[in-house]
Amino acid sequence: MRLTVIGTGYLGATHAACMAELGHEVLGVDVDPDKVAALQAGRVPFHEPGLPELIAKHTASGRLRFTTDYAAAGAFGEVHFVCVGTPQRKGSEGADLTYVDAAFAAIAEHAAEGALLVGKSTVPVGTAQRLAAAHEGVEVAWNPEFLREGFAVEDTLRPDRLVFGVRSSHAETILRQVYAPVLDAGTPLVTADFPTAELVKTAANAFLATKISFINAMAEVCEAAGGDVGVLAEAIGYDDRIGRKFLRAGIGFGGGCLPKDIRAFAHRAGELGVSLDFLREVDAINMRRRDKVVDVARELCGGSVLGARIAVLGAAFKPDSDDIRDSPALNVAARLRLDGADVTVYDPEALDNARKAFPLLGYAMSAEEALQGAELVLHLTEWPQFREIDPERAAQLVARPVIVDGRGALDAGSWTAAGWYFRALGRPAPA
Ligand code: UGA
Repeated sequence: MRLTVIGTGYLGATHAACMAELGHEVLGVDVDPDKVAALQAGRVPFHEPGLPELIAKHTASGRLRFTTDYAAAGAFGEVHFVCVGTPQRKGSEGADLTYVDAAFAAIAEHAAEGALLVGKSTVPVGTAQRLAAAHEGVEVAWNPEFLREGFAVEDTLRPDRLVFGVRSSHAETILRQVYAPVLDAGTPLVTADFPTAELVKTAANAFLATKISFINAMAEVCEAAGGDVGVLAEAIGYDDRIGRKFLRAGIGFGGGCLPKDIRAFAHRAGELGVSLDFLREVDAINMRRRDKVVDVARELCGGSVLGARIAVLGAAFKPDSDDIRDSPALNVAARLRLDGADVTVYDPEALDNARKAFPLLGYAMSAEEALQGAELVLHLTEWPQFREIDPERAAQLVARPVIVDGRGALDAGSWTAAGWYFRALGRPAPA
């Protein structure tokens, strides 16, 4: 089939490459000529494992091309996927739909009569219905995306489920053709009306965020009562109604999705007369974890971080990503810098992005360089590389062997045995 993918960020670039991998002819569309030129040359402007190989393979084969030209896209595609961003609106909790509205309007103007326009972006419930009413010459469907950064290719080619929000059997038939290899592999399909399809996505992200904030609230209780949240999470996780995933306590969630999605969901529910205020508490618990790390850092520096040399391990909002959007690690680093600390950050992939957004922080080209002379080490993004650091060697580099594990991912025993004062969130402080 001939597909277009409008918007070539994380979601769109991955979707375009994966659709080519499924055997389709794909045209990616973006308003940014630099992005289009890079992708057309087989270069991916962000870190996503497996994606550069897939883009290079299919741009070379000619099955995947990129353009800025909506008229060409309209003439080319039978199905148009809209994958543009829905950031938080400035000065509001709600989602900014400017890009979604503009993308639908632009492609609807050029698409063939009756073409299928499929929204993949995360939107407030009611958006699909509004867009369908606004663009009568084309058909609209909603097909939310559940990919995780760092696993984007795998999640797209082998998803847990597909969700089709459709109003006609024609739209369902076309989407079944698009995803035929994925469906043939046994992937569950849920077909739904527009509002349900939109809500599946926001509900899933709200549930995941709630799960993380639940365990982080338990971390707060453990800190107050002297318990160990790591042991607690393991023990409740054996109950498979609860499950062990997404119960890692730490400095909380960040990124371009969960934080803005729970805010937009609470906001949209409010417009509909439904209270989802508990999501505001989920958000507040999450933000308190960042405060907690700043407080612990201050305490471990004798009451003030002014002039203290602090090494921060991690800048990306999570490992296997160079994405720093709403990164808890950089938020903490920037606040310590504002309090007068001398902060040096190291991250295996996100240094360039971090440097651009936080030019006042210090940066190192390796973990070892960051540790050099540090009075305090903060482990804030759980890259596998950081688990490989040898605590004995690290102890020789720092000025004072004091570390805070903000991700509950390091082996307390080996750090303590190497002479470190090792503190983890939600776990008893060492004597
Ligand atoms: C999230 C969802 O997991 C995807 O299913 C969804 O498609 C995506 O948002 C989206 O809406 O596009 P992502 O933002 O890539 O994906 O990252 P996650 O793996 O969900 O992690 C989010 C944050 O939670 C990270 O900062 C991570 O460090 C944190 N986290 C995760 C924890 O603090 N504890 C955990 O146990 C798990």
